[in-house]
Amino acid sequence: MKKQFFIANWKSHKTASEALSFLKEFAPLISEKEDQQIIICPPFDLLETCSTYIKTHHLPLALGAQNISPFPEGAYTGEVSARSLKDLVQYTIIGHSERRHYFHETDDMLKEKVQQALAANLTPIYCVSSESQPIPQGVTLAAFEPLDAIGSGKPENPETVEKVTRSIQEKNAVSYILYGGSVTATDVHQYTQLPSISGVLVGGASLDPTAFAQLIQHA
Ligand code: PGA
Repeated sequence: MKKQFFIANWKSHKTASEALSFLKEFAPLISEKEDQQIIICPPFDLLETCSTYIKTHHLPLALGAQNISPFPEGAYTGEVSARSLKDLVQYTIIGHSERRHYFHETDDMLKEKVQQALAANLTPIYCVSSESQPIPQGVTLAAFEPLDAIGSGKPENPETVEKVTRSIQEKNAVSYILYGGSVTATDVHQYTQLPSISGVLVGGASLDPTAFAQLIQHA
């Protein structure tokens, strides 16, 4: 069976105690599977708390950051360097459309972020909203997230997702492509069954432990 990634993008949601409640409730609902990787991406300030809980309770979960600095460590006030994250996370989202839109992140800047991530041995989860957006060299895990589908409750139709992700795979040397945009337990299977899709990047439906566990079960 092909490997499937289930990535929870919590965005700017949850406090430390809410993150712990999530993990406590989520833990009994999931099991370790060789062909499945569940990655939780909390805000930066909750990473340490989540990491400690996951390690102490030996949960089959990986952690990811939602963003990283395009610079190495140094005089960059407010930035979080890849080096400082490498003991906490194995993955980092790069180029989410909210970063591109609200924080004006450019393709050049995102290329720097990918380089920083790879130098720290973090796997980038590189987001694009169309097949024409470039994917930097070294990226093996990408996510196709059409703008109109994100947070709208209107997921992209699966035929379009298959067409676009196949074209992305033809143009770029990525090993895995995920779909993201209003995925729920009800429609997840429509995406995970597509030949070119290797999992889903989930925002809203990843905030509740039962909803996210159901989504994984229904895949
Ligand atoms: P959504 O978010 O599932 O709430 O649409 C997906 C994302 O932004 O990664």
